[in-house]
Amino acid sequence: MKSFQKELKRRRTFGIISHPDAGKTTLTEKLLLFGGAIQEAGAVKSNKIKKGATSDFMEIERQRGISVATSVLAFEYKNIKINILDTPGHKDFAEDTFRTLTAVDSVIVVIDVAKGVEEQTEKLVEVCRMRNIPMIVFINKMDREGKDAFELLDEIEQKLNLTVTPLSYPIGMGYDFKGIYNIWEKNVNLFTGDPKKDIEDTIEISDLTSEELDELIGSKAADNLREELELAQGVYPEFDKEAYLEGRLQPVFFGSALNNFGVRELLDCFINIAPTPRPKESEERLVKPDEDKFTGFVFKIHANMDPKHRDRLAFVKIVSGKFERNKAYLHVRHNKNLKFSSPNAFFAEKKEIVDVSYPGDIVGLHDTGNFKIGDTLTEGENLNYRGIPSFSPEHFRYINNADPMKSKQLAKGVDQLMDEGVAQLFTLELNGRKIIGTVGALQFEVIQYRLEHEYGAKCTYENLNVYKATWVEAEDEKSEEFKDFKRVKAKFLAKDKKGQLVFLADSQFSLQMTQDKYRSIKFHFTSEF
Ligand code: G4P
Repeated sequence: MKSFQKELKRRRTFGIISHPDAGKTTLTEKLLLFGGAIQEAGAVKSNKIKKGATSDFMEIERQRGISVATSVLAFEYKNIKINILDTPGHKDFAEDTFRTLTAVDSVIVVIDVAKGVEEQTEKLVEVCRMRNIPMIVFINKMDREGKDAFELLDEIEQKLNLTVTPLSYPIGMGYDFKGIYNIWEKNVNLFTGDPKKDIEDTIEISDLTSEELDELIGSKAADNLREELELAQGVYPEFDKEAYLEGRLQPVFFGSALNNFGVRELLDCFINIAPTPRPKESEERLVKPDEDKFTGFVFKIHANMDPKHRDRLAFVKIVSGKFERNKAYLHVRHNKNLKFSSPNAFFAEKKEIVDVSYPGDIVGLHDTGNFKIGDTLTEGENLNYRGIPSFSPEHFRYINNADPMKSKQLAKGVDQLMDEGVAQLFTLELNGRKIIGTVGALQFEVIQYRLEHEYGAKCTYENLNVYKATWVEAEDEKSEEFKDFKRVKAKFLAKDKKGQLVFLADSQFSLQMTQDKYRSIKFHFTSEF
């Protein structure tokens, strides 16, 4: 048991979130370099979709290949086992990222010093804030001209609704970037622009008033730094680990991922303050990571890259206990015991079969169609981790069968792709027609392509004017008002995959009118309420 506690305490599972191009891939790569998990720069493939590639199937395949390879990147640093969960930055894959955020214990938010807070950052941080996930902010690209540090900190507080405190502070920026003062460690790291520079090469400055600082960076910069730090101390709260862990305070670091500058500082602080695997709420009770018995949940499913083998990889986050190879576990939704002979663990860019995994770890289980996103596995307890809510899709199209001989294949393919979370399926109440809803237009291409190549089915789409899908909750299902609603809006009513009633509003105006007319009915933008 002792070693179990030790393993638990040395795990940190987190995700890096950012708007595309802020430097997530570059930062990931530098972090892996510290762990010695990779040998050279350029080893981590960007999961970015190139601009204008929306209808390029090769690009879709490339994207799928890379996202398997980078789903989980694990490495060790100073005897801490770090699991980085990949979160696609592209907005068409935002749901994927939302789901992954249910499996992280903390996040690092990367912000571009010149662009500041961007749209995707806002959305993703909001999800983390709602779940009280501890966040550290890394302001990247300090080697470039950008916004002033105070301006940025202010913008982060305003736009992201966070309470920040800098733990490092930049000395100049862009052309004049001299380095950073590490408030957390009380030392100065000078910027040379040489990514190969010895990263441990920092200079202790425990007393900011000492002349040493003037000698190091020049009197003008030294005075500036002293002034700004004093100001910062007056404005921002002192770092408080509890507040950070509860999601009430977000420490900020500055650096340049490309130059591997400020990354060591970030990582050293991270392993000190970031949470070990956190307890997780289930429908029945709160589950603590140090409980004896294994529990875990599926947060991601990935189809096999080889279309000849239709098996998939289900990614399970271990919440409590030990996961062991060849042991029977209960698949709660199916009430069925399953054994896994070759669970995969992830290391940097490889995956390997492992015998034992611990809370915080992710195991990849081969699956032939048993799993759905959100499924719970236990050692026998009837326990259900709270489902991952569906959000209203942005794009809607009718899906039609283009090959009448293959309708079974089509139904199966659509069913499995929906379980994977590629898109959402709605069935119209009136005539049973099927509608696919997605976050981005790109998914329609992915679905069509995969149906054909993996299931041998062909489909066509037909446009449909839907503004938002809203989940319907009636105060009283027997009321006259609800009956009237169902009659008048029959054309716009559908069931989602779980059989929940959904109202497909064709415009913001009609949604507003419907809400005004039917006061006893609630219209929700997510499937969980
Ligand atoms: P992402 O995963 O968040 O989308 O960003 P990524 O790491 O791919 O970085 C986006 C671009 O920003 C890349 O340039 C990368 O080299 C650059 N970058 C990352 N960190 C820094 C930094 O600290 N300073 C500067 N100046 N640039 C940085 P690119 O030209 O788009 O790609 P590439 O052709 O260099 O790979």
